[in-house]
Amino acid sequence: MCGLKIDFTVGDTSILHFQGEIPNFEKGVAVVGGHFGDEGKGRYADDFVEEYKIEGYKVVNARFQGGGNAGHTVNRDGVEYHFHYLPSGALISDVVFLGAGMLINPMDIQTEINMLPEDQQKKVIVDERATVCTDVDKFMDGYYEAKRSNKVGTTGSGVGPAVSSRALRVHITFADAKKCENYQELLELFDKMVNVPNSVWVDIAKKYGSKDYFAMTVFEAIQKLNVVPGTPFLNKLKKEGYALVCEVSQAFGLDCIHGNSGHYVTSTHTTAIGALADGGLGINDLSDGICVVTKAYASKVGGGYFVTEFGHGGETPDDVQKLEDSIRKYVPECGVTTGRKRLLGWFDAVCVRAALQANGTKKLAINCMDVIGLIHGGIAKICYAYRHKKTGKIVYDWPYFQDEYDPVYIEVEVDFNIFHVTDENNLPDGVWRYLAYISFFTGAEIDYIGTGGASTDYVKFSENGKAHIRQLTQKIKELYAAIEETASLNDEGNVDPDDGSYGDDEKPTTDPNGLYCFALHSEDNTLPEKQQRRYLVYAHPDSTTGLLVAKQGHLEQNTSEDLKGFSDGNYEVPDKAREITPGSKWRHFKGSTSTIIGVARDAITGDYYVVYVCYGNAGKTNHEDGDILARPLDMFLSPNEKKDKYPDQDMRFEKID
Ligand code: IMP
Repeated sequence: MCGLKIDFTVGDTSILHFQGEIPNFEKGVAVVGGHFGDEGKGRYADDFVEEYKIEGYKVVNARFQGGGNAGHTVNRDGVEYHFHYLPSGALISDVVFLGAGMLINPMDIQTEINMLPEDQQKKVIVDERATVCTDVDKFMDGYYEAKRSNKVGTTGSGVGPAVSSRALRVHITFADAKKCENYQELLELFDKMVNVPNSVWVDIAKKYGSKDYFAMTVFEAIQKLNVVPGTPFLNKLKKEGYALVCEVSQAFGLDCIHGNSGHYVTSTHTTAIGALADGGLGINDLSDGICVVTKAYASKVGGGYFVTEFGHGGETPDDVQKLEDSIRKYVPECGVTTGRKRLLGWFDAVCVRAALQANGTKKLAINCMDVIGLIHGGIAKICYAYRHKKTGKIVYDWPYFQDEYDPVYIEVEVDFNIFHVTDENNLPDGVWRYLAYISFFTGAEIDYIGTGGASTDYVKFSENGKAHIRQLTQKIKELYAAIEETASLNDEGNVDPDDGSYGDDEKPTTDPNGLYCFALHSEDNTLPEKQQRRYLVYAHPDSTTGLLVAKQGHLEQNTSEDLKGFSDGNYEVPDKAREITPGSKWRHFKGSTSTIIGVARDAITGDYYVVYVCYGNAGKTNHEDGDILARPLDMFLSPNEKKDKYPDQDMRFEKID
């Protein structure tokens, strides 16, 4: 028999208290960026700190990656703070923890700590495993940026070089620095950084007078910081029942590996999982999961192509200026760290989908919804796919070479004012519709929207609110299912949807009342004659404005149930078709000639008409863009047949019921 011999003289009974125990934070959340940074993550995180405190928890507000490259403005009790190292909940949390993966400048962090009220300064704790990042790294940042052909446009905070020294294992951690008895010993560590170019030491000597004085300054700054072994410290907080609010700096589009074209990125991971790994924590520490934050539009600073930047989707320079002005009127959109003007663009669902996926979450918070409601022109675009500039191939997954792609947009009517709104019941239809489209294109569940700059300007959705967004998203899904049906008709050779008449955007759009329109026509003479006159018109079945769901086909070959009733001369159009309001402002699907929005009956003559929006060739037809016109339903005759039968083709749509 196998026996176990226990030597009671070895060991310590205190091991019993740890046996089988892996402590986790009882409550925890991570907040990450979904575009290219500057999404207003801080306010959302701040909100969590407040919420946890209300629930009775003590809160540790932590960062685990990045460094002085991050920047955020925090407004508290009428005072504006600009932080780079401290997370935004610093002022209201019980402990501020700067974790092992961070690159920290001891002098700069001290400046920020000094901004806190005196009695709060001691609560800022630095993990001994964090890397010391100094002016050496800042000068190296400039040195390498100048040498690089692909300008990253770094923030110049030295984060990249500090990470590279860490990868080379020539970096200095806070533990290393703390072990030094005097600045000379620290200087020896700096001298071991074999990757520092000589010119950088020249710059250091110029700035500090001497290398010695530099080392002395860093040494003294480090002595003032609360440096601790991170894991035991965090374990202690876990056992004391603290809640964790983890702010992940930068954003998915800047992730060191998965970000913009591989190179136009920051030097650390920007996902929650990456941050947890840097901090020595696990996913079980996030009971409330991970929330991706974006703005209702996108912004970017630094190098690299920005697919959804205003202007890349056909907007004229004049429009771009007006779009930017309409945003900057409310949000300055300048980098907190560098003061650079951020580039602005439309919501990029391709990027956000990838961000949600990489973070393993569906939770999305959208800031600046008030701003998108006041955007120039009242129409917002959402980029749901990218199109390859040369091959035309549409991709839905975030591609590597961003500059090879154009954005593919859907336009959504916005035009609402929700500044300061805090109650979801006071949100107009336009807000719900915009959110439903974002939810549809990203697969996200939207948790929260920002409605202004103050810390109280937001709406946190109730279960009812979330259910409402889900319902609308479902309607959009149904619409797309209808379009897919169209595509399958095409597969059967009945219709050619890509006849060029509607540009490349074979997608629907909405009218202000939530009606979805989609139309096709084919005058492709290469098709067999019988197939040339097949047309489909879709509108949303639940439309309150009464456009019918109608399909028209060439009937000699009509085998589809759907097309029954549209035999030549026997158009069975539902009554609802008559309820179109003349002159209503439809948002329409762009076509080179027209956009069909439905079928209607002239109440006087009893004739049925195809109703369409004049678009794109207004100059040729004497119609204004956006005019609603009507033609007899059999307008889709061949060009010659049309000419014979309707010499005066364009009839103004004036009277229906
Ligand atoms: P680095 O992180 O300073 O090396 O800069 C690399 C890239 O990330 C540059 O394009 C920066 O503009 C960008 N970046 C870094 N931190 C932030 C941030 O907090 N907000 C926005 N962009 C950032």
